[in-house]
Amino acid sequence: MIIPHSRPSIEAEDIRAAVEVLQSRQLAQGSLVEQFERGMAAYIGLPGGVAVTSGTAALEVALRAMGIGSGDEVILPSYVCAAPLLAIQRVGAIPRLVDIELDSFNMDPSAAQEARTSKTKALIVPHLFGLPADLTALERLGIPIIEDCAQTLGAIEQGRTVGSIGRATVCSFYATKLLCAGEGGMVLSRDEDLLEKARRLREYDETPSLYPTTTNLKMTDLQAAIGLAQLGRLPVFLERRCWLAQEYQTRLDNADLFPPNVSDGCTHSYYRFVVRLPNLAESVDELNAVIARFETRGIQCRKPVFRALHRYLELEGFPATEEAERTALSIPLFPALTDEETAQILVALQEEWL
Ligand SMILES: Cc1ncc(COP(=O)(O)O)c(C=O)c1O
Repeated sequence: MIIPHSRPSIEAEDIRAAVEVLQSRQLAQGSLVEQFERGMAAYIGLPGGVAVTSGTAALEVALRAMGIGSGDEVILPSYVCAAPLLAIQRVGAIPRLVDIELDSFNMDPSAAQEARTSKTKALIVPHLFGLPADLTALERLGIPIIEDCAQTLGAIEQGRTVGSIGRATVCSFYATKLLCAGEGGMVLSRDEDLLEKARRLREYDETPSLYPTTTNLKMTDLQAAIGLAQLGRLPVFLERRCWLAQEYQTRLDNADLFPPNVSDGCTHSYYRFVVRLPNLAESVDELNAVIARFETRGIQCRKPVFRALHRYLELEGFPATEEAERTALSIPLFPALTDEETAQILVALQEEWL
């Protein structure tokens, strides 16, 4: 059987937690959602959070709760999944795409500075693949930051935990994420007013006043129960991810490629183990050939971003993003990898590059 690119860690306590919810007959949003919100907030170091149906919904709610809408501009990197772009478009704002820094795959602060205008209302800053973006530099721009922590939890940027720094933070609990609940998302913030607006945006009923954009974005207690069980094991998951990354790095020490880069003052949570291959020809087919070779060895590797966002908008001028698209390869790394699977991957890395 092929080693998948990703597989969630579902253990007896997740199953027990889900069964207990089913037995309780309290399935919809209730006290477990509240408990999960408090747990996530405490983990990140914030006073509160608002659980919703997905990370994409969390991005949209965060933008709306910050009062961002028609005619406002929001800066985001081109090298990320489509969720942040869609959220910006759904609130009627204008996306301003910028390039990344190749060694971190994260937003280039100087490109963000160039893209800002008098209409810029926020930056959506994904911490890609588990590595914190350069928030220290981005904060100097003085633009409100939404930290997109869908791919990074527990990592440190200059002594600060990711997610605790921006005006708002969004998380995703999709099945492949660091902490999974099947689907789900959360907006977190230290701004109680923003959180209260987010609460009202997810709930159409029993509310004193209605925002026209309110819809049903509630998480269920069933998802929250699984999320809570996972949250308890998150430090163990992250430790295992770091250990696996160390094993891969050691094996690739003499290989002619760029392994994940961890900048000074940062730690990596290794949501993905992404290497850049330096000697590929100018076509993406070569990367596909590497992926196909891993597949024949029983290992599912992936291009870590399906399609750069500037391609959807038919824009040009994103050289680092295009280089990443052409050369970045994600090798399976997740806590549920067995020792045999890990050994199989290590052999394949050696065969391919050493
Ligand atoms: C950086 C980033 N932001 C947002 C999302 C959207 O999260 P969800 O799939 O829960 O809607 C994802 C999910 O893949 C993501 O990787």
